[in-house]
Amino acid sequence: MPPDTHKPRRPLLSSNSLWRMKSYLRPYVTRLIIIWLTAIAGIATVIAFPLIIERVIDGPVHHGDAGGLLPLGLLAIGVGALEALLILFRRYMQVRPVLGLETALRDDLYEHLQRLPMGFHGDWQSGQLLSRATTDLSTIRRFLGFGMLFLVMNVLQVGAVTVLLLNKYWPLGLLVLASVVPIVWTSLRFEKRYIRISRQVQDEQGDLATLVEESAIGIRTIKAFGRRHHVYDRYDDAARKVYASSMDKVRLSAKFFSFLEIIPNITLALVVLLGALAVGEGALTLGALVAFTTLMLQLVWPVASLGYLLAMAQEAMTSADRLMEVMDTVPAIEGGTGTIEEPRGHLRFEGVGFRFADSEEPVLRDVWLEVRPGETVAIVGATGAGKTTLTALVPRLIDPTSGRVTIDGHDVRDLDLKTLRSVVATAFEEPTLFSMSVRENLMLGRLDATEEELAQAIQTAQAMFVYDLPWGLDTRIGEQGLSLSGGQRQRLALARAVLSKPRVLVLDDTLSALDAETEALVEEALRHVLREATGIVVAHRASTVLLADKVALLRDGTITHVGQHRELLAQVPEYRELLAQDADFDDASEGALR
Ligand SMILES: Nc1ncnc2c1ncn2[C@@H]1O[C@H](COP(=O)(O)OP(=O)(O)O)[C@@H](O)[C@H]1O
Ligand SMILES: [Mg+2]
Repeated sequence: MPPDTHKPRRPLLSSNSLWRMKSYLRPYVTRLIIIWLTAIAGIATVIAFPLIIERVIDGPVHHGDAGGLLPLGLLAIGVGALEALLILFRRYMQVRPVLGLETALRDDLYEHLQRLPMGFHGDWQSGQLLSRATTDLSTIRRFLGFGMLFLVMNVLQVGAVTVLLLNKYWPLGLLVLASVVPIVWTSLRFEKRYIRISRQVQDEQGDLATLVEESAIGIRTIKAFGRRHHVYDRYDDAARKVYASSMDKVRLSAKFFSFLEIIPNITLALVVLLGALAVGEGALTLGALVAFTTLMLQLVWPVASLGYLLAMAQEAMTSADRLMEVMDTVPAIEGGTGTIEEPRGHLRFEGVGFRFADSEEPVLRDVWLEVRPGETVAIVGATGAGKTTLTALVPRLIDPTSGRVTIDGHDVRDLDLKTLRSVVATAFEEPTLFSMSVRENLMLGRLDATEEELAQAIQTAQAMFVYDLPWGLDTRIGEQGLSLSGGQRQRLALARAVLSKPRVLVLDDTLSALDAETEALVEEALRHVLREATGIVVAHRASTVLLADKVALLRDGTITHVGQHRELLAQVPEYRELLAQDADFDDASEGALR
């Protein structure tokens, strides 16, 4: 679990993560240059305006020259209009890169998440991922799209105006500069506290999202155990935490922004007072004083927002770090480049061992097993023996920690993932169905399946109930297939696996939720499918075992016996015990012994 500390982890303004995102801006270079030029021109117009006013006051107004007013007036109007146009144009130009950036980032994140190993998704709370995909992304977009521009622009504007002020009348210029100091100091301090609390709010929102998601997915369990109130309380606590932190954040901002009102106003009073004296002494013209105060007031917002923009930058860096934390998780499952011309589906486990990263004891050790093309092996073992782990190695949901799994002599790790996924199809005990139509769910493994093949797969899996759904195959089934029963979901997963016409079919307890009658029908149909394919079938029931040509007994993480059902039945007491828990055991074993 990645630690989520509330502390900003790095000093101000040093983020590799954010820098690494520059590549996302590359397609927009021309636009960005235009945007920056427009922004600079905008600053020039803003600064020019008070200078024109100065001319007006010291020229036509001072001399009572009405004729001189017109050209200067027109110039002022022109400059004002130009400023408005520039802002409009810049905003218009900004939209595309900003949205494009966010979309590209989101796409990459999503694709990356898809490629990450199963272990990653087990370790990370999905709410944390969700908040990285939403809140963090928009924080980054806000900064790269607007914040960064204003940060640089404001520094430029402050620099230019300061030089102008000092140039106009340096004693007052120094006074203004002095007043900038407390503003900068407070806004930097504000900014530091703001980052801390923002990060806290972000993390707490992630926690809240996790809670919401868990309770949505686990709603049945929650209701079944009557834990509604308990769950609600937990949610309420988390929501209150978010509320409290958000309030702190708002309070902090409010205090800061009131402070920002006070300093400039005091400075303004002083400047007007001292400026009037200077005008009286002739050290300054009236127009220059007016220009001076206007320019000075222009400084307030850029200086004050410096802290805010730095906070935004820091926030964006934190977000970029959080995002890169995910992006930098190397997909442990990277495909090779190998392909198989005509896959036959000869599957071998060669001295395979597997240990979960966080445990000492291996789950599998020294597993040897061969399944020839067209052959089917049933894996039998106690709960926790490692059956699911063993089957997960074939489609590379996990990779062995020692030994190798081969198909037609190729290590599965050398195969490119596309090839591997087309050769191997799986169906699990707890299948995931996505919130799309039945048809789309079934065709995930093979997009080019015909209606006929679809109907056949449905028949094989005994999933004809889909035709009775309100819109038949086009019925949207809910997230996690909540509106379907466990057995219905398993049958859809089976149909999905069968439809992809795999060379190697892996079924991990896929039939566990079916009633005996349906199971018998499915098995009958599966027999035909399995004749064509290499099969690995995890089985609890004797009837399922009978689908297989041979049985492998998995015990304490290794295969202790391989043989015919009846041989094992006769020779291995443990095998007998395992299957004896099955009610149909007697019928089936009689069948086998006959
Ligand atoms: N993600 C995991 N991390 C650590 N141990 C795990 C994980 N998943 C399963 N195990 C352990 O691996 C063993 C085998 O699990 P599994 O393959 O699911 O067994 P089976 O399918 O035979 O019931 C069990 O002891 C289980 O506790
Ligand atoms: Mg299992």
